[in-house]
Amino acid sequence: MQQLKQTKSSTIQYGPRFLQLAAPLLRDARVRRMKQFPHHRNLTCYDHSLAVAYYSMVWSARLGLCRDRRSLIRGALLHDYFLYDWHVPGSCEGLHGFSHAACALQNAAADFPLNRLEREIIRRHMFPLNLMRPPRHMETAMVCVVDKVCAVYEGLCTNPHRKLLAYCDNHLN
Ligand SMILES: [Fe+2]
Ligand SMILES: [Fe+2]
Repeated sequence: MQQLKQTKSSTIQYGPRFLQLAAPLLRDARVRRMKQFPHHRNLTCYDHSLAVAYYSMVWSARLGLCRDRRSLIRGALLHDYFLYDWHVPGSCEGLHGFSHAACALQNAAADFPLNRLEREIIRRHMFPLNLMRPPRHMETAMVCVVDKVCAVYEGLCTNPHRKLLAYCDNHLN
């Protein structure tokens, strides 16, 4: 019970630190286009990317693993910036699972100035599916792992990240 209480409060605990770095992208109209595209169950690409960025930051802070928190958050927020509905047949070239990281990087690089680490996070986040592109930095590995955990959680849970999404919504508007 005590552990459950700590887990719930931690969602808010890291909120200000997260939004300090994430708010510029989360408020950007181009990023908000991800709200149009469904991703896992009832979540949009925007919701999923926000959650991946948040939990990547939380766990990297707790484990003391990542040095560049800003790039970690920006790369995670843009890791699925492919801007189409992957559920619609023919919406992308090839198989979405294999091709969308390259598509997301192409879109993100066209819209935002990205550093090398941010590019790597986006391009390599689908390892081990994209077996030839393993993470080279801890930030990329963190996004890789958190992305998979979030995807499973979002597939199983009926209202995932409810508290986190409400918190961000309240503080961004
Ligand atoms: Fe992805
Ligand atoms: Fe993802």
